[in-house]
Amino acid sequence: MNSSGNKILVTGGASGIGLGMAARFLQEGNTVFICGRRQSALDEAARAHPGLITHACDLSREDGRFELYEWVATTHPDLNVLVNNAGIQQWMRVTDLDFFERAKEELATNIEAPLHLTSLFLQLPSLTTIVNVTSGLAFSPLAQVPVYSATKAFFRSFTQSLRHQLKARGVEVIEAIPPALNTDLGGKGLHDAYPPVSDFIDAIFAQLKEGKNELTFGFSEAMRTAGPEQLQAAFARMNPEAK
Ligand SMILES: NC(=O)c1ccc[n+]([C@@H]2O[C@H](COP(=O)([O-])OP(=O)(O)OC[C@H]3O[C@@H](n4cnc5c(N)ncnc54)[C@H](OP(=O)(O)O)[C@@H]3O)[C@@H](O)[C@H]2O)c1
Repeated sequence: MNSSGNKILVTGGASGIGLGMAARFLQEGNTVFICGRRQSALDEAARAHPGLITHACDLSREDGRFELYEWVATTHPDLNVLVNNAGIQQWMRVTDLDFFERAKEELATNIEAPLHLTSLFLQLPSLTTIVNVTSGLAFSPLAQVPVYSATKAFFRSFTQSLRHQLKARGVEVIEAIPPALNTDLGGKGLHDAYPPVSDFIDAIFAQLKEGKNELTFGFSEAMRTAGPEQLQAAFARMNPEAK
């Protein structure tokens, strides 16, 4: 994708990785829209990065996705880049009594939402690029976040098929694959020990400029290129036997 002159929607763009991408896109001369559920987070992001255009939405709901699409199609029908970044991460055990309720929420946000948005936004003739945010856990799961890890494996697989299907139409499909980074994903404090989002953003924007379509950093590059033995070793490292 060109580095400037785009009209870009970043879902979940008011915090963490989404905000990092939105701010860099803005800085590089793009028009950038962000959406999320918390109006306060959207307002704070817009204050910190004047120029960001915000829209509140709940993407776990089908009507929320339709409403977001209608808003864009009516007010900015020349949008050309969709970044499917919004996601949630639930730390849980399959024996928890609320397991299935929480799993459904995770499936709606991490899978149904980006699939539905992809299908809706492809109705815009202007669409040239879709960026899907997956995870290093797409390659090897962290058992403490069992459904989350599976949603990311699903999303990586879907992204590969999507890229293949859209080639003939000339729509570029890019996968951004973060390793664990210091954001509030899954709850405050859980990711404090990990690298800052800014390191990831520097790395993936350099790769975007090189024309790469799988954007990685650190652990996620190691996972993307790992063979079966390395994947097994990664699983064992991340999931030590219960004592
Ligand atoms: N941080 C990591 O270690 C890491 C590693 C690999 C992949 N990722 C992926 O990176 C993406 C961004 O995560 P992050 O780490 O930046 O965490 P984050 O700061 O919690 O960002 C997630 C964003 O998604 C939005 N969101 C969640 N549910 C939503 C919904 N139903 N409707 C609309 N927006 C919703 C949140 O905004 P509201 O709460 O206001 O709705 C928030 O801005 C996710 O897909 C995540 O899986 C993160």
